Amino acid sequence: MSSENGAEFIVAANRLPVDLERLPDGSQRWKHSPGGLVSALEPFLRSHSGAWVGWPGVADVEVDEFTEDGLRLYPVSLTADEVRDYYEGFSNATLWPLYHDVVAPPEFDRGWWDSYVKVNHRFAEACAKVAAQGATVWIQDYQLQLAPAILRELRPDLRIGFFLHIPFPPTELFMQLPWRAEIVRGLLGADLIGFHRPGGAQNFLWLARRLLGLEPTRGAVGVRTRPGVIQLGDRAVRVGAFPISIDSAGLDALSRKRETVARTQQIRADLGNPKKVILGVDRLDYTKGIDVRLYALQELLREGRVDPAEVAMVQLATPSRERVEHYQRMRSDIEQVVSRINGEFGRIGRPIVHYLHQSIGRAELSAFFSAADVMLVTPLRDGMNLVCKEYVACRHDLGGALVLSEFAGAAAELTSAFLVNPHDLDGVKNAMHAALTIDPAEGRRRMRALRRQVLTHDVDRWARSFLDALDPEHAH
Ligand code: ADP
Ligand code: G6P
Repeated sequence: MSSENGAEFIVAANRLPVDLERLPDGSQRWKHSPGGLVSALEPFLRSHSGAWVGWPGVADVEVDEFTEDGLRLYPVSLTADEVRDYYEGFSNATLWPLYHDVVAPPEFDRGWWDSYVKVNHRFAEACAKVAAQGATVWIQDYQLQLAPAILRELRPDLRIGFFLHIPFPPTELFMQLPWRAEIVRGLLGADLIGFHRPGGAQNFLWLARRLLGLEPTRGAVGVRTRPGVIQLGDRAVRVGAFPISIDSAGLDALSRKRETVARTQQIRADLGNPKKVILGVDRLDYTKGIDVRLYALQELLREGRVDPAEVAMVQLATPSRERVEHYQRMRSDIEQVVSRINGEFGRIGRPIVHYLHQSIGRAELSAFFSAADVMLVTPLRDGMNLVCKEYVACRHDLGGALVLSEFAGAAAELTSAFLVNPHDLDGVKNAMHAALTIDPAEGRRRMRALRRQVLTHDVDRWARSFLDALDPEHAH
């Protein structure tokens, strides 16, 4: 919807749902952006004709607003220095590791912070320009935590929501941040602040009391219910938990298509029709525990608990944040383990681990999910993790088994998975072994329970529950 003066419903995220790609011959094209935020929000926004404010993914380009498949896109430019300081620096080498339980040490750099402040101003200004009088602006994720307060200053008429797609850390860790009070103040510019889990909301309420001397309500926050409330003068800010999900019905339908079923069989045949196919699908990120599952497989093979003639593992890894040091280090570690396993247990034409450092399309991905007997999702920390939900949505045949880290937000919902502590290698090995040898009836029972969860709690329900809480008078 848009009125004469601008858009009525706007999403602002660091990235647009499409990335500009420059090809070697000098031409350019748009391709689908990586990551769970875009996977979740794009189908919702397309069906609700909104506008999207975001960066086109390349430094130093000025792109005019344009419409793609009915969605209005408003590009925000970043200079090469801002990509380095705001995006790779403060967002992905300070906030990302800090919010993921410090699994890598966060770096605190004052220059990066200055750039973060500046870019947040730019995003807020872009939203202020695009939004119609009284519009709803929904700001997304850790890259834009200052934007709610800046936008409120610029446009007090707007209804502003904020959702954090990654974990909100334990307060002891958040307190390390030199700019902790500024971040809390920035978020409080929103009318509703959403987290995946009640624990994140609870942590935020505690910080508002401790850092800003505010008086939040003290009751326990529920899932989609009982948000905490912070009174700021005549304005009430609500703080709640809204677990995100996927377009479950869309993926279910895709996986039932004849072409997908044929492709699934082809994939298994290409792998040499092994007895068991194991799958991992992630952005190549050190929080995802890709190494954990590889070490577990290596030990199971060495101990003879898994027969190399009977398994093939596929690891699909989307390239991500390739100029950030931790990502580079982790990539070479993973590639080394992959080649060790193949060197030790492979045969000519039959590697054990098929590793693709590539992004693949949705239809192809659903065929991989359908082909996998065991899906390994082993992050050390993950806000939600959509991959595990996508796997479940593709298993209308009730086949397959899911091994899922307790440290993914999804573990609270997908309790019929094989839940593992990714720090406990023996536990991961035992769960993998159990998933590989599961009795088919027990497997179907588990998958039925998982599917009930995922199919009834889809991304539309997530967005509606957030937007209804943001604007209770206009239920969506
Ligand atoms: P994150 O947002 O941290 O990347 P999620 O699991 O929430 O993690 O979301 C990842 C999204 O990226 C999912 O929709 C998944 O299907 C997609 N994805 C991951 N790896 C690949 C790949 N190799 N090719 C295509 N899509 C991928
Ligand atoms: C996660 C984050 C998103 C981010 C995505 C891809 O899903 O929550 O905000 O867009 O990863 O990461 P990138 O740095 O490539 O945008």
